[in-house]
Parts: sequence; structure tokens; C-alpha cells
Amino acid sequence: MYICICHGVTDKKIAQTIEEGATSMRELSQQLGVGTQCGKCTNCTKKILNEKLIEIVDVTDQVA
Ligand code: FES
Repeated sequence: MYICICHGVTDKKIAQTIEEGATSMRELSQQLGVGTQCGKCTNCTKKILNEKLIEIVDVTDQVA
């Protein structure tokens, strides 16, 4: 699903970028351009970021 129409960024691409190491909205903006034009995708991108980071922490806890 497209999250950022201005830059053609999908939820999968955002999730992949977080898995590759992005941990903040600023990093996602720099790498994908999300939130840098009209800003309508900012809230949705933050939601994905938070969910994904929690998921990564949970997996890390299980491994440790
Ligand atoms: S929809 Fe992402 S900046 Fe406009």
C-alpha cells in the first residue's frame, strides 16, 4: 500500500528501510523522502516506525 503518494513510497519499503537500520523519522525522510513534501504521510509513517521498532525489540529480546 502506498503511504507517501508524493514520493511513491509503500509501507513495505518503509518497513524494509527500518529493518536495514533506520530508527527515526528523520532517517526515513532522508532516505525515502517521506514527509518532505505535503507531509500527509508523516503520521502513518511514524505509526509504521513505532510498530516496526517494537517488533525488532521483541525479536531481539527473544534471541538474547
Ligand atoms: S504524501 Fe508523503 S510527503 Fe506528501
